[in-house]
Amino acid sequence: MMPPDTPFLARRQEVLHVEDLALPELALAFGTPCHVYSHAALRANLRAFQAALGAHPAGARGLVCYAVKANSNLAILNLFARMGAGFDIVSGGELARVLAAGGDAGKVVFSGVGKSRAEIRAALAADILCFNVESAAELERINEIAGTLGKRAPISLRVNPDVDPRTHPYIATGLETAKFGVPIGAALALYEHAARLPHIRIEGVDCHIGSQILDCAPFREALERLLVLLDALEKHGIPVKHLDLGGGLGVAYRQDEVAPEISACLTPLLDRLEDRKLNLILEPGRRLTAQAGLLLTRVEYLKPGESVNFAIVDAAMNDLLRPALYGAWHEIVAVTQKKGTPAAIYDVVGPICESGDFLGQKRALAIEPDDLLAILSTGAYGMAMSSNYNTRPRAMEIMVRGDAAHVIRRREETADLYALERLLPARSPSVPFSGLTVETDKNIASHEQTC
Ligand code: LLP
Repeated sequence: MMPPDTPFLARRQEVLHVEDLALPELALAFGTPCHVYSHAALRANLRAFQAALGAHPAGARGLVCYAVKANSNLAILNLFARMGAGFDIVSGGELARVLAAGGDAGKVVFSGVGKSRAEIRAALAADILCFNVESAAELERINEIAGTLGKRAPISLRVNPDVDPRTHPYIATGLETAKFGVPIGAALALYEHAARLPHIRIEGVDCHIGSQILDCAPFREALERLLVLLDALEKHGIPVKHLDLGGGLGVAYRQDEVAPEISACLTPLLDRLEDRKLNLILEPGRRLTAQAGLLLTRVEYLKPGESVNFAIVDAAMNDLLRPALYGAWHEIVAVTQKKGTPAAIYDVVGPICESGDFLGQKRALAIEPDDLLAILSTGAYGMAMSSNYNTRPRAMEIMVRGDAAHVIRRREETADLYALERLLPARSPSVPFSGLTVETDKNIASHEQTC
């Protein structure tokens, strides 16, 4: 069973294909585990947002700023940049990626509660579109740094509208108890203060209420609260150019989930904005990439048990953390449907030494050792949240376009994983320790000579 909204995935003669490429061929050529993406699906997902905006008078000047954190591979950023997207970033690293991928800094918005001085400097130097400012202290810091650079920093305040997005508590951000944004009740006063700061230019109002939201109502609620603020700003002589409604629109991970159509969610919001001269910015992440990707893995062992059968596969929580971290569900299917193999109920687990290392629990699968499995809907927050835990090289990433496969990130080699690490010198340096000793390659080499 496939989740809905995955038309790039199809079975042909019992074998799962991404676009026109059979997954067993990919596994043979490149090994497993690998993250596999469909170029057509990525394109279609971004187009759907752009079309929904473009079809409405209030959205025609809108901008889709892809939330880079969902999947930051350069090939994906480059594809979206060429399609005219902007980007929502949350670190200097993401800014560097966007620029390296050919993204336009003038279409970048910078969110996040902990922007460092260096990150603010880099964003000002690149002339980004807007800082989404998350606190009064951050506003002061941006003003001060912009002053030293002789610039005016373009800003929105990220307003926390205190709306319940009815999603997993770890990814609900728009509630009053979250660390994000400025409480809506305090926003007007902070805007008035910002208007007086010499190196700040007020551009817009921003909010992001959470992620994996499957109900349009919280977006409408948030907008209503923001409209009250926008009216108050206008009354106080603080006009804004854009409204950024963040990301958060969810996808159906399971057969029984229904993800709202993009236009069904957007149109009522755009209707409410029609009389206002505002450019709308959206920051979707998951909705652009989740359903465009899968994690291809091979069964290493089957381990039948008294109460639980385990299918031990070569992917693990370091490749896909969502099940372990959020108890998230990803559909798992056998790549090749085998008629003669009886189905059994398995917990699909990885080799990592944690009982939380599962990719799916209680799944009916007709599989044997060495069979391939596809873990679906992993294009967002899959590779992006991967790690090297247990010294496991990160999986390769492959983009399928038609019947062609492009390696968009090579598989890590084990030596890559400790390439930045250094042994201690065999004997301590003879100089007594006074404060911090910085070990550079050069002085390590000199210690080694003296030992
Ligand atoms: N804008 C801001 C300011 C955000 O913090 C986020 C996501 C987005 C946009 C994009 O949200 P999306 O459209 O992807 O829902 N690791 C979690 C999701 C964390 C989302 C964090 N912020 C997961 O795997 O479900």
